[in-house]
Amino acid sequence: MEYQRYERSAAAAQAVSRCYDTPPLAYVHSYGCQQNVNDGERLKGVLADIGYGLCDAPEQADLILFNTCAVREHAEQRVFGNVGALKGLKEKKPGLLIGLCGCMANQKQIVEKVRKSYPYVDFVFGVDGIDTLPDLLARRLQKKGRILMEPAQRPVIVEGLPIRRESEFRAWLPIMYGCDNFCTYCIVPYVRGREKSRRPADILEEFRGLVAAGYKEITLLGQNVNSYGKGLDGADRMDFADLLNLLCVVPGDYHIRFMTSHPKDASRKLIDTIAAQPHLCKHLHLPVQCGSDRLLEQMNRHYTVERYLDLIEYARAKVPGITFSSDIIVGFPGETEEDFEGTLDLVRKVGYMQLFTFIYSRREGTPAASYPDPTPRSEKTARMARLLKTQDEIAMALVKAQVGQTVRVLVEGYGRAEGALSGRLDNNLTVEFAGDPALLGSYAMVRLTGARATVLLGESAD
Ligand code: 5AD
Ligand code: SF4
Repeated sequence: MEYQRYERSAAAAQAVSRCYDTPPLAYVHSYGCQQNVNDGERLKGVLADIGYGLCDAPEQADLILFNTCAVREHAEQRVFGNVGALKGLKEKKPGLLIGLCGCMANQKQIVEKVRKSYPYVDFVFGVDGIDTLPDLLARRLQKKGRILMEPAQRPVIVEGLPIRRESEFRAWLPIMYGCDNFCTYCIVPYVRGREKSRRPADILEEFRGLVAAGYKEITLLGQNVNSYGKGLDGADRMDFADLLNLLCVVPGDYHIRFMTSHPKDASRKLIDTIAAQPHLCKHLHLPVQCGSDRLLEQMNRHYTVERYLDLIEYARAKVPGITFSSDIIVGFPGETEEDFEGTLDLVRKVGYMQLFTFIYSRREGTPAASYPDPTPRSEKTARMARLLKTQDEIAMALVKAQVGQTVRVLVEGYGRAEGALSGRLDNNLTVEFAGDPALLGSYAMVRLTGARATVLLGESAD
């Protein structure tokens, strides 16, 4: 693994200023997970660094960049739909540049499809290429033809990329990239490559900067944060719990979240750390995917329902009030009614505060793509509806049980009712309460007085 530092490309900045009389505008849209959103913030940072202004409307833009997601077919279709819709814009404005990057761009067949069917897309580059964007753009601006990079994985981490964060009080902080797990349904290891951990000192430096800049919520990101540290040498050697302890020493008024935890690697040490560190939120996103041992094995998840439940029980005992959320795939190839009932059963046993549910999407190139999948789509949709109904009942009861407490929340935005603010509790629940908009981005004490479905209602207790 090689660690490099980003350097501003003076040549690219010159190429941009030579091509435009006034600073050109870039529109960057990110699809998919938080990792991608954070990549999008860095893409914006890099573009601003070479002279682009940023805009929110594609019609105003001189450069449109789609930072894509490949995790499910639906995400890919949306991107192609949106790229297709740009054809007319490009005809009206021939100088417009259109680029595709992110996870889809790391798939050979996608790059081929762009080459053949989307001739007005000017350039394509993969997930690892954020630092290469300036020079690639400079080449394109010098009319050197379309640039469609072949998917490749770089064993490199580039530190110090400029960034334009979307929020002034909530920040994403990647601690690692890629995934080594090869769950049989998942495309991520193929598009994002092998796991690479950032060095603790680099993470700490970015973290300190965020706290100093007044960020209140810092979310550490990785496909599997619990295997952080694999491949780090010498004095850098540490695991995820050690990293959390290192960060929590930084003084300040902030809290830390992290995602995603893989149950096979989530350790008791991690849970002990959550119990001991007041800066860590009492919430764990622990994707279980399904509640059938048979399918968990076929998914290559390396845990059983029993082991998963043991971990949940340990966390409950060690961290009073801890809440859980999870990802669930419905309709994995060969899922039987019995397998699915196992999932419902597990969901009831754990009592998740929140579930992210997905109908299995076949991803070409993954092992599960060749598994027999006889269950009709209508049955999968019906199972999904049953799961959602079960979860709604659970979540509503859990939310109601919170009423009566007075809690500290981070005020994140506006609520549904006129004059209402919306805040997030340590346990990841949302509360709406009447308050002064000046509170946005700061902590407030709120008395929980009721609930509307899974949203808490409250009043200021400051
Ligand atoms: N089909 C459906 N859901 C998927 N996920 C990953 N791959 C697929 C797929 N092929 C879900 C998993 C993962 C979440 C980020 O996306 O639940 O945890
Ligand atoms: Fe995909 Fe599994 Fe890696 Fe998560 S842990 S990114 S589901 S392969």
